[in-house]
Amino acid sequence: MEVILAKHAGFCFGVQRAVDTVYEQIEKRGKEGRPIYTYGPIIHNEEVVGDLQKRGVCVLDSLADAGAVPREERGTVIIRSHGVEKIVCERLRELGYDVVDATCPFVKRIHNIVEKESAAGKNIVIVGNAGHPEVEGIRGWSETDTFVAGAVEEAEKFVCQVGEEVCIVSQTTFNYKKFQDVVEIFKERGYNGSVVNTVCNATEVRQAEARELAARVDVMIVIGGNHSSNTRKLYEICRQECEMTYYIQTLDDLHLRLPESVRLVGITAGASTPNNIIEEVQNYVRVNF
Ligand code: F3S
Repeated sequence: MEVILAKHAGFCFGVQRAVDTVYEQIEKRGKEGRPIYTYGPIIHNEEVVGDLQKRGVCVLDSLADAGAVPREERGTVIIRSHGVEKIVCERLRELGYDVVDATCPFVKRIHNIVEKESAAGKNIVIVGNAGHPEVEGIRGWSETDTFVAGAVEEAEKFVCQVGEEVCIVSQTTFNYKKFQDVVEIFKERGYNGSVVNTVCNATEVRQAEARELAARVDVMIVIGGNHSSNTRKLYEICRQECEMTYYIQTLDDLHLRLPESVRLVGITAGASTPNNIIEEVQNYVRVNF
């Protein structure tokens, strides 16, 4: 029996980079070093956050949290891949922390665009979900007010003065088709300015690959947290292509009895599933079936 692991299973580039940064900082710190914090959980995965906690990495949820830490215990703060508002980095530094910025370079690019274009006087429009930490972070790099539109109906409420220009960017994980629909509204209204497609295709690539793999295997295993919406989506896509699709969180959930006829097993994983869990499952299936 052959096992095929999807190439883009698990962490995307930006999340992998942020998680690696935390482990690098732990190494650098040595035994006696300064405390390490992450600004918000580095990733929505209890195993990873639990492991980091065991290694002495604590989570700061807000600037108030950061300010409440006694001065002598303020150490290094790592900014996660979503990024944060400019003021957050500044304030953390003022409080005496060393800031290590693990913002995904694709998100950082948006910060740079927004900072530059708003300084040039443009109205900033972010196509994305208001309240999402990445969107809040992006807003915090604008020198002018920002407008967030998550749907066509919201975009229709936007108004700007005659002669003013707009700069439209997108949340990286926003659906590209929806982004185009929203942009269309601005074009119809005749607003001047620039549209920068900042949608990251990591999610799309993972989904397309899962669909293609599920279509050619006998059994498909999808690994990811119970509350992970992107893993559920992967599961649904795979289930459409392969009837024997299983959704598991870790190896412990795998109680497979495979029919003799099974020749090919495919494995994929959601964006917050760590590599070690994927490897465990992969090795187990290879050895036991
Ligand atoms: Fe991941 Fe960065 Fe894209 S965090 S989803 S690679 S924008």
